[in-house]
Order: sequence, then C-alpha cells, then structure tokens
Amino acid sequence: MATRTIDQLLEEMTLDEKIGQLNLVTAGQAVTGPIGNGDIDENIRGGRIGGVLNLWGRENIGAAQRLAVEETRLGIPLFFGFDVLHGHKTIFPIPLAEAGLFDPALWERSARAAAMEAAADGLDLTFAPMLDVARDPRWGRIAEGPGEDPLVAAVFAKAKVRGFQGARLSDRNAVAATAKHFCAGGATLAGREYAPVDVSERTLREVYLPPFQAAVASGCAAIMPAFNSVNGVPMTMHRELLTGYLREKLGFAGLFVSDYTAISELVQHGVAGDLVEAAALALAAGVDVDMVSGAYVNGLKEALARGLVALEDINRSVRRVLGFKQDLGLFDDPYRRLAPNDISRREIEELARDVARRAVTLLTNNGVLPLSRGLRRLAVVGPLANARGEMLGPWSAAGAPENCVAILEGLKRALPETEIVFHPGCGVDDDDRSGFEEAIALCAKSGAVALCIGEAANMSGEASSRANPALPGVQRQFAEQVLATGVPTVAVLSSGRPLMVSWLAEKAQAMVATWFLGDQAGAAIAEVLTGGFNPTGRLPVTWPRETGQIPIFHAVRSLGRPFKAADPFTSKYIDLSPEPLFPFGHGLSYAKVELANLRVSPQEFSVTNEIEIMVEVDAKNTGSIPAHETIFLFVHDVVASVARAGMELKDWAKAELAPGETKTIGFRLGKESFEFLDKALETCCEAGEFEILVGFEADRSTALSVRVRSFD
Ligand code: BGC
Repeated sequence: MATRTIDQLLEEMTLDEKIGQLNLVTAGQAVTGPIGNGDIDENIRGGRIGGVLNLWGRENIGAAQRLAVEETRLGIPLFFGFDVLHGHKTIFPIPLAEAGLFDPALWERSARAAAMEAAADGLDLTFAPMLDVARDPRWGRIAEGPGEDPLVAAVFAKAKVRGFQGARLSDRNAVAATAKHFCAGGATLAGREYAPVDVSERTLREVYLPPFQAAVASGCAAIMPAFNSVNGVPMTMHRELLTGYLREKLGFAGLFVSDYTAISELVQHGVAGDLVEAAALALAAGVDVDMVSGAYVNGLKEALARGLVALEDINRSVRRVLGFKQDLGLFDDPYRRLAPNDISRREIEELARDVARRAVTLLTNNGVLPLSRGLRRLAVVGPLANARGEMLGPWSAAGAPENCVAILEGLKRALPETEIVFHPGCGVDDDDRSGFEEAIALCAKSGAVALCIGEAANMSGEASSRANPALPGVQRQFAEQVLATGVPTVAVLSSGRPLMVSWLAEKAQAMVATWFLGDQAGAAIAEVLTGGFNPTGRLPVTWPRETGQIPIFHAVRSLGRPFKAADPFTSKYIDLSPEPLFPFGHGLSYAKVELANLRVSPQEFSVTNEIEIMVEVDAKNTGSIPAHETIFLFVHDVVASVARAGMELKDWAKAELAPGETKTIGFRLGKESFEFLDKALETCCEAGEFEILVGFEADRSTALSVRVRSFD
C-alpha cells in the first residue's frame, strides 16, 4: 500500500475483483457451519476471495497468503479469521464462566493472551467477543457470552475489545475483534437456536443494544449481524439497525461481516426471492462481507444488472475491506503475523489457571468444603471426572484435549496423601447403568465423594439448545444412588448453562458450578475443593429451579401484584416458587464478610446538574482467612414515569480483606445511573426517590439499602 492508495486500487479493480474482496470463505480446518467453499486455492488465484476463515497455523496461512500476494493480478493480501472465543491454543474458561469473575482487568488480559497466540498462528481477526445478553438457559449460546446483564456485557465488551486489539490493530500481536451477534439472539423464541426474536423497542434499547454500543465506543473493528430476525426483519438485512443505528448514530467505522451463510438464508427467511435479491438486501443494509454463502460472488453482478444495487454500494464495502486490511498492516507486510511473537506459553498457562480457579462458583456448602487434607479416601466419580476433552467446552479453537487437566488428575495432584479411587459410573448422555454398582461401592467405602456430572462440551454453544436443560442421560439416577450412600458428596457441575438441579442442591453436601474451565479445569477445581484457593466466582446469570421459570433474570420490571407467598392473587406459579434457585451474583466463599453502615452523599441532588453521588459501605472480614468479595450496587427508581426494575445493576466493586480487617468500599454514581428511557424512549432523569441497594447478590432480602432524592 506504500505505493497505491485505496482509491487508486479501487480504480484498477475489475467488478469481479471488487466483489471477490467481499467474499469470506471457509477452509474447513475447523467446521463451524454446514458447507464448504470448493477449491479455495483456485478461487484465491482468480481474485474471487478477500478473506478466509477456519484456517490457522503459519504454514497454512502463509501458503494461502502467498497465493493472494504473488499469484493474483493485484496482489491484494487476504485476511484470516477464526472463532477465538476463549483462547486459541491455550483454552480459558468459556465466556459465561469468565463473566463470573466480574474482573475487567482479567477479562482483558485473557483476551490479550488469546490474541497473542492467535496472531502468532497467522490470524488477523477473531469472531469475538460474543455479546448477546442471555436470559434463557435453554439457548446453548448462553455459554458463549457474558450472561444476563447489559451493564456486565458492556464492561465485558470494552475489556475484550481492548484485549484482542491492543493499542493498534497493525501490531503483530493484535487481532481485530468482531462484536457479535447483533442483536437480541438471547431472546430467541422458546430458547431455540436460529429462531425469530420478537422484542419490544424498549427492551431492545435497554438490554440488547448497550453491549454493542460499548464495543463501538471501544473501537471494535468488526460487527457480525445475527442469524435471527428481530421483530420480523432478519438482522442480515436490517438497514435501520446496522446502518441507521450502528453506523450513522454511533459512528461505527468498521466492517460488517455476515454470519455463516446468513446472506443466502434470507431466502429461507422468506424475504428474498433468490440469491441475487438476498445479496442486494444485505449489501443495501450495509453488510460488507459475505461469510461462506457465496451470495455476493454469485449474485451481486446480477443484482447490479437488475438495478437492485448501486455500484457505489459495492465500492463502499470494498473500500471498507481494503481499509480494514490496511489497518491490520497487511499491505505493508502481508506476512506480519506469520512470525513467532514473544508469548510465553508458561505465562499463558498460569493466567489460564488463575482465571479458571477464579471462575469456579461455590453454590452451596454445608461445611464439607474445603475437603480435609487428612481425608483417607476420596471417590471421584461421574462421567466428567476424567474427561479432559470435555473441559474445553464449546468453541475451543485450536485447543487440544491433551493440554487439559482432568478433574481426577487435578485432585490427585492436590491431595497426594489421600487415596483417590475413580469410576465414571455412567456416560454423559446414554442409558447405560452397568457401571453404577461398582462406582457406588467405591463411594460407600470413601470418606467423601466428588461427583463430577453435567453436560458434554458439545451440549452448549451453537446449535445446542436444550428443551430440558437438566442432567442428561442417567446421571440423575446415578447421582441419587451416590447420595443415598450417605457419604458426604460434593456435586461438581460441568456445563455451558445453569442446569435444572434443584433436587441436587438440596441433597448434596456442596455444589459447585465449574462451567467449562478450559485447559486448567482440573487444577483449578482441585485448588478450590481442597481450600488452596478461596472461591470467588459469582453467577452472571440467575439460576432457575425449573425450566418453566425461564426466562428468568434479576432486573424484572415492577408489577402491580408482586409475589407474596401467602397471597394467591400475586405474581407466582401454583406449582413452584417464582424465586430462582440462586440469584444473579450468587457465589459463596470459605471466608466470612459482613456489610454494614451503607451511606450516601449527597442524599439529595438536582437532575439538571452534573450528578456525582458517593456511596460507601463498610466490609468486615469476620472469619479467619483472607477474603476476596464482590459487592454489587443496584438502583431502584421508586416512582418513575414508566415501570422500572426493582433492582438494576449499576456497579460492582471488589474487596480484599485480611482476617478481622474492615475496609470502606466506595462507589461513584454519575447521571447515567439514574437515567432511563421515558415513554417516548428518550433518555431522561426524573425528580423523585431512588433506592440504592448494596449486597453480595441480587436479593433484596439480604441487601442493605438507603434512599436518595432528586429534584428538578
Ligand atoms: C456462528 C458464528 C461464528 C461463525 C464462524 C457461525 O455459525 O454463528 O458465531 O463466528 O459461524 O465460525
């Protein structure tokens, strides 16, 4: 590019070469969708490809890049993309697990580490972060994102974009980020993958757009429209939201990359008569790059001939693709990411272990945890006890089971004095009970049981919705027999979503959510179970008791007849409590911290001025071990012109406390914490009363609260 500007290049390009730049094809080294793209080498040589996904490794990428640079007429380099969602080679906890750290600095560091590994493998672009707020655990993709809360998702978005992209996209260690899937996929009909979304304009703006707004504000290089339609309009052709909202209102200057075959799927959506119309609709909406569907290479020329698109629209997208390649530094050196960078495998592994142990969430504990180091015999049973590959979870990029520490292995290393006996008992998802007896006999002869159950890695993520997200197969029957032995049992759950296990929470002596923790799963879980690490993970999603409660989340709008157990005419079920099994933010530790003395200053403020409210609370460690707590702050607008949520997350803070220590934890609330969308969906801040709630989880009954008043 030193010699040619993008405009000059555009002048030299034929229409076919231009359309070729908009074509992103899959190389099939990893399979993330239904079809392949034929002879890629030949198409690269012919200038019919602008980028490749699902290919990694210096040799593979180097060879493809050489074809583009040396054997095409104009020598325009390709870009290479891949789904690096939670690590490239070193696999970190799945995003849902990592969200539970509530730690933006670590969110950023893990993305930086993943970017360095991915860049060293030749990759320019990751299709991450996934920013779908998700409130429905039937939807398998809840695993890929930051959970139920828009503020958490927005903070997560910023941290991940910074982490992936670093200071400059052209750095050899940087990979461009793709915020996806825009938008509202988490509200998919009945939790079913690829289903339509019907969502109010208010909820769209309050819940589903803010994470993408944050990604744009952080300079995210690309955005992927979702597969789903929103209120009847498939996102791949949603001009109002893509071009109107993101580009024109928020000033997004990056690339719109379609999802996998999503452009041709406009035909199945029933909004395009053929591939040509589909291509025209997507381009008109602003979608620059066609991932895999071939609609652009096979349809845009004809669309031009039919007068469905303007050449200027094609030029506009080509300019963006070339600009993207320029920003990545590919015109200066197409092979810039094909050299080893200064990543240290050992440092990344340590980081992965730290993130993994911090993500482990202790849900219940009657005192059996931490396991006593004097334990003579521990039975480690269940189909996920010795299942290295499953620990990777969905979207495990270039990860490998052989790099993984199984739970069994982790416990053996952490408890060298204890005799550890193992039996899987049953499979994850079959009806074979033949292993029950032997496994139960081992449990009966042990001092404690680690019951390792849950889902297989491929039971969450894309195309893995579950109508009944309970323990699959005969695991419940197996667990019930283990519990019937009376031996103290710790249920260690692996899953990509909250599982419907209220019966287990009642019966097991302790229950731990480990999600999918990646390479260091076993080491991290063992550290927590044996007390080597005091658990810190918190739930980024509300955990339901039963599927019938879904969707369930903490920030529910106030209603006329709130739930009262004794009053039948209140909002409830006649066959089940409406309360979740565990609220958002829940997560126990081995330490004991108490909050007291919540205060706020000033207590009155004018909505017409700048607002700065200081909220303080004293946190005291009343136990005998160091504590690491997450403290949440919620606001409730008591009387507003529209019904507001009873608890809306506005901030959180961390407290590190030595035994006996008391610290004052402070929060600073600005105007945005009191603003909302009025009846006309305009941002406003009204005079009136606000309740500020501070606590360890989204539970009014345990939170401290104080009121402030605003005036005009
Ligand atoms: C998924 C995207 C992913 C893409 C490429 C699609 O099926 O929905 O999240 O980035 O495949 O692998």
